[in-house]
Amino acid sequence: MSDEQTTHFGYQTVREEEKAGRVRGVFTSVASRYDVMNDVMSVGIHRLWKDAMMDWLAPRPGQKLLDVAGGTGDVSFRFLGRAGHGHATVCDLTESMLVEGRKRAEAERLEDSLDWVAGDAMALPFPDNSFDVYTISFGIRNVTRPQKALDEAFRVLRPGGRLMVLEFSQIPNEMMQKVYDLYSFNVIPAMGQLIANDRDSYQYLVESIRRFPDQETFLGMVEAAGFEQAKYRNLSMGIACLHSGWKL
Ligand SMILES: C[S@@+](CC[C@H](N)C(=O)[O-])C[C@H]1O[C@@H](n2cnc3c(N)ncnc32)[C@H](O)[C@@H]1O
Repeated sequence: MSDEQTTHFGYQTVREEEKAGRVRGVFTSVASRYDVMNDVMSVGIHRLWKDAMMDWLAPRPGQKLLDVAGGTGDVSFRFLGRAGHGHATVCDLTESMLVEGRKRAEAERLEDSLDWVAGDAMALPFPDNSFDVYTISFGIRNVTRPQKALDEAFRVLRPGGRLMVLEFSQIPNEMMQKVYDLYSFNVIPAMGQLIANDRDSYQYLVESIRRFPDQETFLGMVEAAGFEQAKYRNLSMGIACLHSGWKL
């Protein structure tokens, strides 16, 4: 396998064209338990991070959101709640995640404010300049070529539109990073096995986090896609991070 044709899937090296299928496999396997496991694994902290995302994003009434890798719609539901009224399109590679999201939308009587679209972040099935806001939360590290996803975000946003990425990141303090690694590599896959009988999906989760670029490197990628006023904010010491940029 030559370098151009390979990428990483957690700590494994796989052919580029294999990765999306493998990622879909992971999320198909966790879809029905995804929301519960998110709360358990992060002890609810992912909710605070998503709230911080909304605080910085400050959704406004009537805005059109594209929530890529939106899964079960967590970010979209929050966005609509904050905006008061608006529209969200959840786009995701894994249909079973969208199915779970749709059930939530029906339960919350929000069907009219949401669309659920199967699609790949690297080739979005939407025209240029069509959304006010683009979000991707805990999604971009799973994408085979994250730079291509950022380029696509830039294309589908209207001029004046906003990008916001929430992703796991690297803790700048080395000792804290070691402590966090010990927790994540030892506890998370074991809990995945215990609670969901699925060690492999959670092993992939922790490995993919460690493979993702650090804050500054990712900031450079946001800028390379064409976004201006690109900035980031660490969350929980850098365990997660928000990156923001504008298409001006
Ligand atoms: C960890 S979940 C995040 C779901 C949701 N955004 C959240 O924050 O709870 C990651 C999601 O990314 C989706 N995904 C992975 N690669 C993708 C791609 N290339 N294009 C679109 N979605 C993708 C997966 O199917 C999965 O639903």
